[in-house]
Amino acid sequence: MRDFEKDEILYEDSIAERYNRDYHGYLIMQAHDEDFAKFVSQHCHKGDRILDLGCGPASLWNLWKSFLPEPAQMVGVDLSEGMIKECEKLFPEDDFRVGSALKIPSDSGSFDLVIVSSILHHIPDEFLPDVFKEINRVLDEHGVVVGREPVSKGRLGDEPGWFSGAIMSFRHLVYRLTHTREYPEPAIGDYHHAYIPTEFLKLLSHSFSPKGVILKHPVSSYVLRSNNTLVAKIARLLDNSIGFGGHEFYYSASKNYYDSGDVMDCIEKELNTILDPDKKIEFMALLQKSAELLERELNTENG
Ligand SMILES: C[S@@+](CC[C@H](N)C(=O)[O-])C[C@H]1O[C@@H](n2cnc3c(N)ncnc32)[C@H](O)[C@@H]1O
Repeated sequence: MRDFEKDEILYEDSIAERYNRDYHGYLIMQAHDEDFAKFVSQHCHKGDRILDLGCGPASLWNLWKSFLPEPAQMVGVDLSEGMIKECEKLFPEDDFRVGSALKIPSDSGSFDLVIVSSILHHIPDEFLPDVFKEINRVLDEHGVVVGREPVSKGRLGDEPGWFSGAIMSFRHLVYRLTHTREYPEPAIGDYHHAYIPTEFLKLLSHSFSPKGVILKHPVSSYVLRSNNTLVAKIARLLDNSIGFGGHEFYYSASKNYYDSGDVMDCIEKELNTILDPDKKIEFMALLQKSAELLERELNTENG
């Protein structure tokens, strides 16, 4: 085991019992979690085998149960035994395993979707390529990885200007009215860090075809722990009205291809090498028709 993993286990074991309360027990955080679960659900299909990597104390498990359509299998893996014990207390029937993102305790190709919620920033950058390779290994050939991580630079509010001033005024107003402030995040190691999303994408693209990133929660992240219903409502309204920037980013990436357009591109590339042009056009037209038919039939079947 690597030194950073030993430090991480000590720290995560020590906060396992209070983690859900401190990090997910507030209205705005719950709204963020639900927003992320909706994003994940867009990448999930009925019957998928799903891995929640770095699942913590099953923090998002109930959301997976309500938002993800009838998975065939749900597995939670976490480095910290303390976290896994909490999972087992909360969901004694479910499948949780102690394991590292660098050595996931599962066979190759055994998942359709891997969810990575806020864990990579606990891992030093130099190990990220190996983590991505490991996620790639456990994904089936059509598999997808989705995740979220904190943003480091360029957050609204950090930049100079009136806009940041307005956000900070809002934050101070909330503090004055509700007397809540954010916890300072503990300095555990240099590896607990946030990302510049474009640099993260570059690393990810060595192992996957990324779809891109979406920045989230530009205002509400400043008042995460106020837990006042009206503050939460206003902060979320401001997030949506700004519609750009944020403290967190969501990403998704596929192991091989992304959507039907990409599948067609891949097939076309392959066909270029093996078929004469007329045959190719005929085949592609047939494939397109079949895809349309399939989509129509399945949509009718699913109501
Ligand atoms: C910030 S918590 C996130 C927990 C949960 N996914 C969530 O979104 O609330 C980070 C989790 O990642 C786990 N973790 C950190 N490094 C890991 C690694 N190398 N392999 C597996 N899990 C890891 C920690 O033990 C911790 O439970």
